[in-house]
Amino acid sequence: MWEELRAHHAQVADRRFETLVDADRAAAFSAQFGDMLLDYTKTNIDVTGRALLIDLLEQTGVAAKRDAMFAGKPINETEGRAVLHTALRNLDGGPVEVDGEDVMPGVLDTLARMENFANDVRDGRFKGQGGKITDVVNIGIGGSDLGPAMAVKALAPYHDGPRCHFVSNVDPADVAAVLRVCDPETTLVIVASKTFTTIETMTNARTAQTWMAQTVTDPGAQFAALSTAEDKTAAFGIDPTRVFGFEDWVGGRYSMWGPIGLSLMMAVGVDAFRAFLRGAQAMDTHFKAADWSENLPAMLALIGIWHNQICGYATRAVLPYDNLLSRLPAYLQQLEMESNGKGVSMDGADLPVHSGPVVWGEPGTNGQHAFYQLIHQGTRVIPCEFLVAARGHEDDLHHQHQLLVANCLAQSEALMGGRDLDTARAKIADRFEDAELERQARHRVFVGNRPSVTIAYPQLTPFVLGKIIALYEHRVFVEGVVLGINSYDQWGVELGKELATNLQPVVEGVQPTDGKDGSTAALVGFLQKNGV
Ligand code: F6P
Repeated sequence: MWEELRAHHAQVADRRFETLVDADRAAAFSAQFGDMLLDYTKTNIDVTGRALLIDLLEQTGVAAKRDAMFAGKPINETEGRAVLHTALRNLDGGPVEVDGEDVMPGVLDTLARMENFANDVRDGRFKGQGGKITDVVNIGIGGSDLGPAMAVKALAPYHDGPRCHFVSNVDPADVAAVLRVCDPETTLVIVASKTFTTIETMTNARTAQTWMAQTVTDPGAQFAALSTAEDKTAAFGIDPTRVFGFEDWVGGRYSMWGPIGLSLMMAVGVDAFRAFLRGAQAMDTHFKAADWSENLPAMLALIGIWHNQICGYATRAVLPYDNLLSRLPAYLQQLEMESNGKGVSMDGADLPVHSGPVVWGEPGTNGQHAFYQLIHQGTRVIPCEFLVAARGHEDDLHHQHQLLVANCLAQSEALMGGRDLDTARAKIADRFEDAELERQARHRVFVGNRPSVTIAYPQLTPFVLGKIIALYEHRVFVEGVVLGINSYDQWGVELGKELATNLQPVVEGVQPTDGKDGSTAALVGFLQKNGV
């Protein structure tokens, strides 16, 4: 199946795909779900390529694996766990069983507890020592940080609750900067950690506890915890009434739909949070039911596979022309790279193709004035994914939003069409001549033929944000199944954690550098001489 796709690619690789773009292509090479459009007209995928990609999806059993995931089967085979973040947003769906037990009563009960607590905080019934909570500090890292941090920014127009801050890095600069602007008497600290063992989070949580204890008589009363490890939250001294648990079938980077989303719920309120869940749930329903060629997550995954595994483009840029989504690239880096950055397939064999791509990006138009130079004229092709809303939230500045949209569309148009040498020459013929004209013109050539997709939607509401995030989650799932890997473990982060634990006493000077490699020993030596 990979061979057929590669053979097809070899036949079409040199074609300029803009020659495919006629009046009918926009309808035929896009998919729409409700008011969300996925446009992939500006790629080199044609009818044959798409059919072969869909074959790949069918031959690798994506439908059966998808159904197994939604049914609570242990598809995370290396950890023997179900993968059921979808249950967290199954607001009016039926029962979902894991090992014969319906998990939905527990999910809905936790959601109700979160809502009560969020309402109490927002309405001032839950108070700090100094009165109504003004600031919420979420301490977590990776999946216990990136999701809510991204979404609180994304839904800023709906933010009517306490200020929210996010501390993730073990670098003391991070926690210090946040605590400096908070009043301990009116701050709620949420310790978000699935395992409640992550060294960065536990270190920052203890720092916050010490900070709070300097002013507040009962600091534990202003702490809450989000975790699967209720024994450890109790040992930390957090009252069980403020502990919001979840199960091991929710992966860290898929967890913002449940307790890990508590800070978001406090920021935007329970109705907006529910709308966010409903958007994701709508995408789940679409993913389960839509034909593959109309199925947004499936098509986005196949486009990704075409560009990465078939065309050999190693990275993809995510470029939101929506400043509210400024943290989406960082969020997707964990979602996509921690999920599909693996070289071994589920059965333990080497992956026969490359693993998932490097994902990176910044909001437009900022990126245009930074790295787009390389995207347009660099020697490597970087497929781009644009996200754009028809409307912003600033009605009085709509003309500015229109300029933003024009910039977005201009980029994909420029990437596709480029500018040939004749056109470049003609543009400067009044200023240069002969050899200098040739030289100057060559610098102004854009090779074009560079692919992009555009995801467009009316406005970034909580519902639409839920759809976007679930779209990417299912895209990662489909890519993982096609590549034959387990998207739900993350063994690749373990080695560094172990070595950091071993190195801590060496850095502190309590243990010698004996046994360390020459490079590491020398770096420790330099840092110790300079005061570490
Ligand atoms: O870096 C690995 C990882 O386990 C991520 O998968 C996870 O999101 C993050 O650490 C934080 O883990 P926890 O929520 O258990 O503190």
